Amino acid sequence: MLKYTSLCLSMFLALSAMSEAQDAGRGEEMFDKKCQGCHRRTDAVKNGPGLAGVTKRRTAEWLHKWLADPKALIESGDPQAVAMLGRFKIKMPTIDLMQDEKNRNDMIAFLSTLE
Ligand code: HEC
Repeated sequence: MLKYTSLCLSMFLALSAMSEAQDAGRGEEMFDKKCQGCHRRTDAVKNGPGLAGVTKRRTAEWLHKWLADPKALIESGDPQAVAMLGRFKIKMPTIDLMQDEKNRNDMIAFLSTLE
């Protein structure tokens, strides 16, 4: 019983740490400033692909790599990154704000709200 209680407690602590770690509202603010010039929240194409459902077609690990340095991911030969080449007139730039892991977590939390 004691084991069960401490298991529940540690799960609860882990979950609250996660929700603190990810702030979709901050992600949305960054999206409006840095991303919406090229991306829509739907699946419609603008300068880049629409981002609805992007957290379903890509893993969090992939998104971290992509957001931090799109060019490096393409150059690494990553098949999903390479597959996007040539489909859009421009390439996604490296974005200063996305060099920070917390910012990327918040952005990914926001992206996961787009369906
Ligand atoms: C100047 C235009 C531009 C800006 C600004 C931009 N992107 Fe992109 N993004 C692109 C293009 C173009 C692609 C398609 C891949 C390529 O050719 O570079 C892309 C691809 C992506 C992908 C992969 C989509 C998929 O289907 O896998 C994600 C995720 C993404 N961008 C997120 C963001 C986020 C988040 C921001 C803001 C922090 C942002 N982008 C800012 C142009 C942009």
